[in-house]
Amino acid sequence: MAVLRSEIERHNRLYYLDAAPEISDRDYDALYHELEELELAHPHLADPDSPTRRVGGEPLSEFRQVRHSVPMMSLSNTYDASELVDFDRRLRGLLEGRHPAYVVEPKVDGVAVSLRYENSSLSVCATRGDGRTGDDVTANIKTIRSVPLRLHGSPPQILEVRGEVFMPLNSFRKLNGERREAGLEPFANPRNAAAGSLKLLDPRTVAQRGLDAVFYALGATGGLVCATHMELLDRLREFGLRTVPGATRCDGMDEALARIGKLKSERSGFPFDTDGAVVKLDQRDWYEEAGATSKSPRWAVAYKYEPERAETRLNAITVQVGRTGVLTPVAELEPVTVAGSTVSRATLHNEDEIRRRDIRVGDRVYVEKAGEVIPAVVGVNTAARRGGEEVFTMPDACPACGAPVARREGETALRCENLQCPAQLKRWLCHFASRGAMDIEGLGEAVVEQIVDGKLAKDPAGLYSLDQVTLAGLDRMGEKSAANLVAAMDSSRQREFWRLLFALGIRHVGVRSARDLAGHFGSLDALMNADRSAVQAVPDIGPVVAESIVGFFAEPRNRELVRRLADAGLQTRTTHGSAGPGPLQGKTFVLTGTLSSFTRDEASSRIEALGGRTASSVSAKTSFVVAGNSAGSKLDKARKLGVPVLDEKAFLDLLSG
Ligand code: IVH
Repeated sequence: MAVLRSEIERHNRLYYLDAAPEISDRDYDALYHELEELELAHPHLADPDSPTRRVGGEPLSEFRQVRHSVPMMSLSNTYDASELVDFDRRLRGLLEGRHPAYVVEPKVDGVAVSLRYENSSLSVCATRGDGRTGDDVTANIKTIRSVPLRLHGSPPQILEVRGEVFMPLNSFRKLNGERREAGLEPFANPRNAAAGSLKLLDPRTVAQRGLDAVFYALGATGGLVCATHMELLDRLREFGLRTVPGATRCDGMDEALARIGKLKSERSGFPFDTDGAVVKLDQRDWYEEAGATSKSPRWAVAYKYEPERAETRLNAITVQVGRTGVLTPVAELEPVTVAGSTVSRATLHNEDEIRRRDIRVGDRVYVEKAGEVIPAVVGVNTAARRGGEEVFTMPDACPACGAPVARREGETALRCENLQCPAQLKRWLCHFASRGAMDIEGLGEAVVEQIVDGKLAKDPAGLYSLDQVTLAGLDRMGEKSAANLVAAMDSSRQREFWRLLFALGIRHVGVRSARDLAGHFGSLDALMNADRSAVQAVPDIGPVVAESIVGFFAEPRNRELVRRLADAGLQTRTTHGSAGPGPLQGKTFVLTGTLSSFTRDEASSRIEALGGRTASSVSAKTSFVVAGNSAGSKLDKARKLGVPVLDEKAFLDLLSG
């Protein structure tokens, strides 16, 4: 177990620090599962720093307060180069003529945190708070996979590192998409999303937010001495901590200014948002002489980039209906270039937002790339109003089907509650057929549109009764493409069960959860009949996801849908020997003796449902021997070969995840 733990930690460093993984994700998962199993079978050898212990414990009721051993300061901000020149002059004065070198680092737009390691083990993590006291967010930080739970190498006994927790842009986009679909207000930018996520009391939810972190400074040093900042960054990396990419040493302010200019164009390539650059004195042993004001050090300064914005005309506001019926207002803009790309549509989030900013159709509006990626209307040039601009109100009826719209309790979004709404159905079918789901080639938006408008299918199961003649009758669909589509539909019947589960489009059930659920329950039947606590027993499935799943299967029409999908020949169980991602994949079990809760056959099929296999004789390759009452020679052989033995209770624990 110790070897596995340090191997997994090593692979983490190779992956996150060096971006040079030696093994595939699959092999990594196999190591991880092996460790999980050993820990399950030998609970007395548990280790709180084990890489399997990232997500744990019950939700907190509130955050404990932590006093920082060294206050967390912030930096003074500047917006133009002349202020940086002033900063340099002042600093040279303080250093009495010595020549400062600088390190220029991207300014990561996230949330400042301080992590304390004691004897290499991560002990307490806190937010900045007021600089003296912050929230204890240890359980949340532990869910961030790039943050080591144990430091590597030989760090001092106490080490406090400071850095930034951020939400990578791809996690941000995914989260906001899910929030819109769920009728929740999207986050305005990745920084708010990171801050909002760190404030969650349930670490299981935090684990799904895809947060990340980088480090750039020390709190309590524990006696670690580094002459320069560049050296500090090297040491942090040696300990297994990630530093800010792109940090560059510059000999004097002229070089620093040139580097800041270059960073401005490089920053779009970083996986996080940057709102500027930080310029720090490289010589750490001069920090004390440079000193600090009550708020910020005099040896570092932040230079902020102006966000790129453009002005254009808001031609119209249209309303989109999402897969779950949420209505989203969309700004239709006179095309304009922002940060290098042409923008003609932008999200307006919801009606309250439009009201708050007093955005009217016909206005000259300012467009920014929030999170530098997704364009948003951030304000109105009211001085340019001519009087003909129109106040926008959300429709009372769904623009797609005319059904009345309503606001659910606790949600800001309006929804079309008509389960037969064609706009929702179109989105649903497109999702069902998409590459990550059932992967039905040829079933794109244009075809789905015609199928729904022609009332040829009322749900995904209906797709499977479409025949070639009907499909060939659709616009721009020849005999050949109709035949291809029928063939594609046909082969989609063989897709693994987890894909079908994802394709059903149950709210909050992404690919990852679908895989976990399929592996755990083994069949759609089992999942459909599970109650909330059984669903929540699956690792990484939190209460919100569990609620959504149980709610979905409580609907008679969804149960009916599942029955029809099964009748159409789709895979509704995890199949033995498939390349399915069951948690017991690659594991061989030998059953011996009598079990009180199962027959042998039942036990075998449970193992197979989770991706494992059973064999009749014990060898060195056997992963586990399950020993019931009056187990005989197989048990002896297992002991001789050192094969782990599970009693019935341990076996049941293993099956239930
Ligand atoms: S150094 C004494 N380096 O920006 C403070 N800060 O307004 C040392 N930040 O509070 C901070 N990226 O939260 C530093 N590369 C970086 C940074 C960075 C982001 C944040 C940090 C700080 C704020 C300053």
